[in-house]
Amino acid sequence: MNDYSKLIFEKSFVNGEWINESDSKFEVINPFDLSVIGQVYNDDRLLVKKAIDVAHSAFKTWKKTSVKERSILMMRWYDLIVQNKNEIATIMTLESGKPFAESLGEIDYGANYIQWFAEEAKRNYGDVIPGFTSEKRIMVLKEPVGVVGAITPWNFPIAMITRKIAPALAVGCTVVIRPSEETPLTALAINYLAHEAGFPKGVINTVVGTNASEMGKELCENSKVSKISFTGSTTVGKILMQQCSDSLKKLSLELGGNAPFIVFDDADLDLAVKGAISGKFRFGGQTCVCINRILVQKNVYDAFVEKFTAAAKNLKLGNGLNPETQIGPLINQIAIERMNEMIQDATSKGGEIKLGGNFVAPQFFEPTIIANANSEMLFAKNEIFGPIAPIFKFKTEEEAIEMANDTIYGLASYFYTKDLNRTWRVREALEYGIVGINDGLISSEMVPFGGVKQSGQGREGSKYGMDYYVDLKYVCIGNVK
Ligand code: SIN
Repeated sequence: MNDYSKLIFEKSFVNGEWINESDSKFEVINPFDLSVIGQVYNDDRLLVKKAIDVAHSAFKTWKKTSVKERSILMMRWYDLIVQNKNEIATIMTLESGKPFAESLGEIDYGANYIQWFAEEAKRNYGDVIPGFTSEKRIMVLKEPVGVVGAITPWNFPIAMITRKIAPALAVGCTVVIRPSEETPLTALAINYLAHEAGFPKGVINTVVGTNASEMGKELCENSKVSKISFTGSTTVGKILMQQCSDSLKKLSLELGGNAPFIVFDDADLDLAVKGAISGKFRFGGQTCVCINRILVQKNVYDAFVEKFTAAAKNLKLGNGLNPETQIGPLINQIAIERMNEMIQDATSKGGEIKLGGNFVAPQFFEPTIIANANSEMLFAKNEIFGPIAPIFKFKTEEEAIEMANDTIYGLASYFYTKDLNRTWRVREALEYGIVGINDGLISSEMVPFGGVKQSGQGREGSKYGMDYYVDLKYVCIGNVK
């Protein structure tokens, strides 16, 4: 194994220093065997407040740096992450259970956001608008919003941080990160590498601790923070929105999903099975864009179920550090309880288990396929966030669209067809921020990621990503003779 211990840090990082305000510690657990892999100082609201003060004061100078300076620092940071990719991937696998190959993939994915926005920083163009009278000249300038609070989840310990803070840093904002208490070590490692890359003190700060609600509250209520960017559940997103209302803070929310995956009877079934395997079982189903409901047209239903079951049977469960492993453990016992509850509910309502269905000690769940799924079952409305694949049957295109849209969520959706006209019709009818056609993997730093309805607001990544971290300033020069 590589020397990942050189990147293990167990304190918050504020103003260019490792710091703890609290004397108590919390354990970071490896979900594979429940062993303790780190003891991290359990900081709280007080240190978040300190980090905000520091970021607020660093903003005064950071916003004045040239885009080229910021871009060069970001590229150095990108290089350091790539150089240390094996070590960071090991830490990520240890604390999240993610299979090592997927951790390496996430490091590329996360680092690519830094590279992309290092380039985009130079293209943060404003505008010149024709004067509305002959002696007026008009400009639109883009200015950084200020201090950004980034509240991030455990399922993408690096990519959800970089997807938020890279565009923020590129335009001249400073940041305070509150990573999930399940995966603080990856977050601290990349903050350290940013420091090594030469970012000035106070520009990037990470505060770790278990008191998510109080730490989040400080970020949302502190008037020195101008913007919150959050990835997590819809329930928490709504709480943060309420907490931000007093100061009318800007908010980007990437929340829950209930992704439909529609297989029409003219689809290439083998391609659809391949897409369903990757779209369902990526990180054991623990992503917001993972397939939640597979909808298959009547004529190909049995054939799809058979092929999909045969393919899923081969998935290997185990220690993420073992290169053979394709499905790691679930993140915690709550996730296991949710899987058990969904399976009991589905079987009591006529669901037929075609594969899996069992908990495996200490914290695994078998890849599970449930046929005869119906709209009464829990997973029809709720996010699974685990390796259960329910398969619903439909007769017509209209019925499939109605079923697909019958949810409060609107993040990712997928469908498989060879019919060109259908690709347009269905794409237009789906109420989702993301539509994958004949493809189950849709994530990249180059595309706008985000949802509609109760899946959130705002977009991350792509040429649109920086827009959420700037204010437009309209300048009118009058009386030009
Ligand atoms: C998420 O699960 O929140 C993000 C998934 C992705 O970026 O692909």
